[in-house]
Amino acid sequence: MKIAILLGAVRPGRQSHKAAYYLGKLLKEHDVEADVIDLLKTPLPVFGSHDDNPVAGKVVENIRLRLEEADALIFVTPEYQGSFSGALKNALDYYWAEFKRKPIGVVSASTGKMGGINASTQLQHVILSLGAFPLPGKLLIAGIHEAFDDHYEPQNDLIVEQVNQFVSDFLWFAEALHEKKAAEEVAVEYSRN
Ligand SMILES: Cc1cc2nc3c(=O)[nH]c(=O)nc-3n(C[C@H](O)[C@H](O)[C@H](O)COP(=O)(O)O)c2cc1C
Repeated sequence: MKIAILLGAVRPGRQSHKAAYYLGKLLKEHDVEADVIDLLKTPLPVFGSHDDNPVAGKVVENIRLRLEEADALIFVTPEYQGSFSGALKNALDYYWAEFKRKPIGVVSASTGKMGGINASTQLQHVILSLGAFPLPGKLLIAGIHEAFDDHYEPQNDLIVEQVNQFVSDFLWFAEALHEKKAAEEVAVEYSRN
């Protein structure tokens, strides 16, 4: 199973990327292929503004292929102005079929105590509009600025516990849908023969 982690934090001095890269590392330890799509490293222009730019077109296609390959996704966002990041929303506006009927987990982060709860709830609603399935639970990381070190290692037991619970719930959900789709493909193949 392949999982894409779409990271919507792009500002200099960002903190939320630490959660995304830690999750990527943890998923690999669970023998799951994890691809962090970092919108700072692959920046997308404002949707609709550079439709005829070939460089932008390559970035759009690069991300499209990576999203398409993913069986399940995790969106990681900071909370900005009581919502999820504009960079993430901009990326979501480019794609649709790539998300359809896929399980998507939400991770939000803030320096405050609420861990971006508003961002996460709003993002779950948007996931419904993408025709995808939001994981009911979410990972809220409070105090993100002190939650991880610069090598993306968690700095307290609570974070480790929260992340492990999230990963366990997410993999359960993602694997259940993956098995269902695999069974459907076998049934289609069988009906052809
Ligand atoms: C433009 C902007 C708006 C923000 N709005 C909120 C907010 O509404 N609620 C909150 O808890 N933190 C807010 N923060 C602080 C973030 O929680 C903090 O920057 C945290 O480190 C996550 O964002 P980062 O990945 O960009 O660092 C805001 C930060 C920025 C830069």
